[in-house]
Amino acid sequence: MKNVVLVGFMGTGKTTVGAALSKALGIVQKDLDEVIVEKEGCSIPTLFAERGEAYFRDAESKYLDELLDAGPQILTTGGGVVLRQRNVSAMLQKGTVVALFASEEELIKRLENDTGRPLLAGGVAERVRTLLKERAGAYDFAPIQIDTTEKELQAIVAEITSRLT
Ligand code: S3P
Repeated sequence: MKNVVLVGFMGTGKTTVGAALSKALGIVQKDLDEVIVEKEGCSIPTLFAERGEAYFRDAESKYLDELLDAGPQILTTGGGVVLRQRNVSAMLQKGTVVALFASEEELIKRLENDTGRPLLAGGVAERVRTLLKERAGAYDFAPIQIDTTEKELQAIVAEITSRLT
């Protein structure tokens, strides 16, 4: 079995779906953001504040490569991993990529009390709207695409597993 790589905008449910998928398939889940925090020894907001976004993106690409080579596993990624074409190519080459989506309204609802995502600082609703526009189409490369807006977790997992085989 290949890696299963979950991509999608912040708040689309990658980590939750990844954990449930890991249980269903009996394959270990690794979260790219968690690995970055572990290896770099500091939180994502601190990394952004002290080293800058470019440093974070370099770390993201580096640990993505390591995780893709360590599989097969369920790999959950941060929403911005698709911003680099080399990451997109690596994910497509070394895994089956599943993109999760949700409506703008639903994303704002899910993220409105968030404090751990530096790109949402200064007003969640406005930042979500802006970033969704900037990233329009960025997740469309994934061969499996699922809208999580109104779906139960188990239905999402069932849809993904049925499409993996
Ligand atoms: C980011 C998404 C975050 C995290 C970082 C940047 C992004 O991950 O990697 O804050 O650029 O969309 P989640 O998608 O898990 O929130």
